[in-house]
Amino acid sequence: MSVTVRAPAKINLYLGVGPRRPDGFHPLATVYQAVGLYDDVTVTDAEDWSVVLSEPIAGVPLDDSNLAVKAGRALVAHHGIDRRARIEIHKGIPVAGGMAGGSADAAATLVALDRLWELGTSDHDLLTLAAGLGSDVPFALVGGTAAGSGRGEVVTPLQDDGSWWWVVVPDDEGLSTPSVYAAYDRLHPSPPVPEIPAVMYDALRRGVPDHLAVAVRNDLEDATLDLRPELEDTLQAGMRAGAIIAMVSGSGPTTLYLCEDADNARAVAAALRDGHPDVRVAAAPVAGAHVVSYA
Ligand code: C5P
Repeated sequence: MSVTVRAPAKINLYLGVGPRRPDGFHPLATVYQAVGLYDDVTVTDAEDWSVVLSEPIAGVPLDDSNLAVKAGRALVAHHGIDRRARIEIHKGIPVAGGMAGGSADAAATLVALDRLWELGTSDHDLLTLAAGLGSDVPFALVGGTAAGSGRGEVVTPLQDDGSWWWVVVPDDEGLSTPSVYAAYDRLHPSPPVPEIPAVMYDALRRGVPDHLAVAVRNDLEDATLDLRPELEDTLQAGMRAGAIIAMVSGSGPTTLYLCEDADNARAVAAALRDGHPDVRVAAAPVAGAHVVSYA
């Protein structure tokens, strides 16, 4: 018996970052959106914990440091049971790209093991376990479009009446999230407490790309560009190709291009494909972690 759960990548339409807290995290005022790039996680009962990738990918740990194994261990500890599983991950989300792929795997593992072992974990407990695993894990459970506060782990669904089209350009070389936050601290020693502006809520309710374009913001962008200045060329190429707005995804180095519609997105992707063979088109918003097959 095995269960497969699919979990989406996230982007941050708005990422306001406040001053570093005593615990090392930063207070966020963020708007998450789940986009149609997915990891599929298949869990099967086993003698011991293991992680298997459907194809080898550099930068994804296969030992206990993988967030999916931590998720499994946390779920087992929560229920006080002695079970283990083999966790197979089929990655469709760029690795170390600022799209929360590891968080998606952790969220998918929680849901998959809950179903496999028929634990009946409440939504509240799943969200609490998710928050203990990482700042972005609760949103991977919830999906759609949502506000994130605290260090990002407090998630509130938002009304989003748009059908958004994004071009996503992954980068060969990942970036570590802590290094980007450290660069942010260097560049902004005392930033103001962040807040999501009314214009963002309004743009989501109206579903008009031109309105969203003036509301998006990523406070980590200058830190990411400080570490990877060459990304500026990609952002400019996307604008020249006809995107409405170009931005860094979360802590990067993946970059995002908001497009008018599906045709516009395909045209922008085609123009960027030359230097970036991994370029993708993704629709949004999409669902959070959900079961796709039992076997
Ligand atoms: O929560 P998560 O494990 O994903 O965070 C990874 C790292 O990113 C943290 O150790 C911290 O350096 C940084 N971070 C932060 N403030 C946040 C979220 C993450 O400084 N709100």
